[in-house]
Amino acid sequence: MNKQILPSFLAADLGHLADELRRAEASGADAIHLDIMDPTFVPNMSFGPSIVDFCRCTCPGFYRNVHLMMNRPDLYLDAFMKTGAQTIQVHIEADCDIHTELRRIRARGLKNAIVVNPETPIEALAPYIGEIDEALVMTVHPGYGGQKFIESCLLKIAWLRERCPNLDIMVDGGINAETAESAAKAGANQFVAGSYLFAQSDMRAAVDDMRRRIA
Ligand code: DX5
Ligand code: ZN
Repeated sequence: MNKQILPSFLAADLGHLADELRRAEASGADAIHLDIMDPTFVPNMSFGPSIVDFCRCTCPGFYRNVHLMMNRPDLYLDAFMKTGAQTIQVHIEADCDIHTELRRIRARGLKNAIVVNPETPIEALAPYIGEIDEALVMTVHPGYGGQKFIESCLLKIAWLRERCPNLDIMVDGGINAETAESAAKAGANQFVAGSYLFAQSDMRAAVDDMRRRIA
């Protein structure tokens, strides 16, 4: 299966966003992961559609993976589609009709994904499996970068991989070279890493090393 590594822009140095984005692209990573937060869904706020536009203008060829940690993603989908999101991920815990939103994303020619929080049983994903391009298994409670990987989420990845051998399964939260390797063994093939990758003075070497570990 195609393995992908996605630096999370949330961990970039805010004083140098354009350079940080170029550094992530030059590292050989596959896409930039953009964490959009609404404070009614997580205990934090981050950025909005303009950051997606900024990424499109700064590094047009660098794929944009947009993670909507929002209670009402339905109200903002158009804005993210217009500004250049290429994959849009909505939480199963959101307060809207998920089937409708997944269809709207695909109807615009984008990839869709559904996200499950650590406390949500993975079985909740079953009704959506035929209509998603990828599943994102959160390996921390969403809202902040730099948290510790929750080991018990590995079981959810294994459950999903057993049932969906060809589905893209992403992990997000507390990913470094070691936890990426554990997640890969459980069946994940896409890896978001924020604080780990952006803290590296040589991001390319860290991406190469992670690629070897998840191979
Ligand atoms: C958490 C976000 C993550 C976060 C990951 O709410 O969804 O994408 O940026 O950061 P690290 O890799 O530092 O755990
Ligand atoms: Zn994320």
